[in-house]
Amino acid sequence: MSGRWTWLTTVVLLAGLAAGCAGAPTPLPEPGSEGERLMRARCGACHAVPHPARLRAADWPAMLALMERRMAERGMAPLAAGERETLLAYLRAHARR
Ligand code: HEC
Repeated sequence: MSGRWTWLTTVVLLAGLAAGCAGAPTPLPEPGSEGERLMRARCGACHAVPHPARLRAADWPAMLALMERRMAERGMAPLAAGERETLLAYLRAHARR
């Protein structure tokens, strides 16, 4: 293993820890809002709750659709239409600019 590879691995691991792999809950915008509540209830079962700024607004609809497929594959309750709308509005409002 080259020194460069070890260094890169360390940086990637530290970035992962900083991004929420250390077990601390992801700080989300608008704490207490319906969107934040839904994110914590529905988006943390399979991975750490992602921050809306992870993606650009234009990319969230397709990602949310993919997540709904993953939920169906695992036999989880589907999002109600209203939940999907609330989540999408929340994700897009706080998406990466
Ligand atoms: C049923 C399990 C499951 C649930 C619940 C789930 N995800 Fe995911 N998510 C995955 C899987 C699996 C991947 C890896 C990509 C793939 O193969 O679909 C992923 C990847 C992602 C990614 C891309 C990787 C990254 O870290 O940037 C984002 C963003 C994301 N999920 C957001 C969400 C959001 C928002 C919700 C709530 C609406 C959610 N997920 C709920 C399973 C889930």
